[in-house]
Amino acid sequence: TARLSPWPYPRWIAHRGAGKQAPENTLAAFRHGAALGWTSYECDVKLSADGELFLLHDDTLQRTSDGHGIAGLLDWTALSRLDAGSWQGPAWAGEPLPRLEAIARHCLARGHTLNIEIKPTTGTDAPTGRAVALAVRDLWQDAVQAGRSPWPLLSSFQPEALAAARIAAPELPRALLLDTLQADSWQRADELGCVAVVLNHRLIDGHGLIAQRQADGLRVLVYTVNDAARARQLFDWGLDGVISDAVDDIREQVEALAR
Ligand code: G3P
Ligand code: MG
Repeated sequence: TARLSPWPYPRWIAHRGAGKQAPENTLAAFRHGAALGWTSYECDVKLSADGELFLLHDDTLQRTSDGHGIAGLLDWTALSRLDAGSWQGPAWAGEPLPRLEAIARHCLARGHTLNIEIKPTTGTDAPTGRAVALAVRDLWQDAVQAGRSPWPLLSSFQPEALAAARIAAPELPRALLLDTLQADSWQRADELGCVAVVLNHRLIDGHGLIAQRQADGLRVLVYTVNDAARARQLFDWGLDGVISDAVDDIREQVEALAR
């Protein structure tokens, strides 16, 4: 039985900042989550054409901003002028795409922890993984050495991004994201030196899968659980963390369900 690494992260993680009630992956979403008492966040990070790291979920800009086309083909100057809030409502007009650096400052100032999903623009897995790892080392190093923060957890659906992150900064904790299970999924996580897997919660139908992964030394987290009864069940099965959109009330509801 492998040993589980210490786990410095809260078990509740707000998805895309707290990006269901505020524009996803913006500082406004992080502020919204903080106002509701959330202390741990997932966000999606990609690389601009000129090498800046910023938050965005999709490859393209049109769903969550007033821009169009592939975000990763633009320089940061152009990206920084976009409105990433108005699509969610007039109250958020003018909210910009944030750089990873701004999110790092926000979280470090509050003692909040981060799960950075490396979300490469198609075809840029390795360079994005490498850039995220080097930036995270730079931004968090002092706080980690002073014991003020754990490292962010780096996760990705793209093994190549995690492999590149590992080469650039092997000390950073990594997690493989899995939306489906293949015969070699666990072996893959192991080969990438992961401390955790982050699974689509629908892949879990009982306590066995969680217990087996933990016996192999892997923490088990899931996305995206918005139903309190489901979250309660998963925690009762020994789950290490839940990524959720339901930031307004799910934690209280799950507490109320506790036996
Ligand atoms: O990191 C977990 C979750 O965010 C993965 O799905 O599409 O919301 O990035 P997605
Ligand atoms: Mg994500």
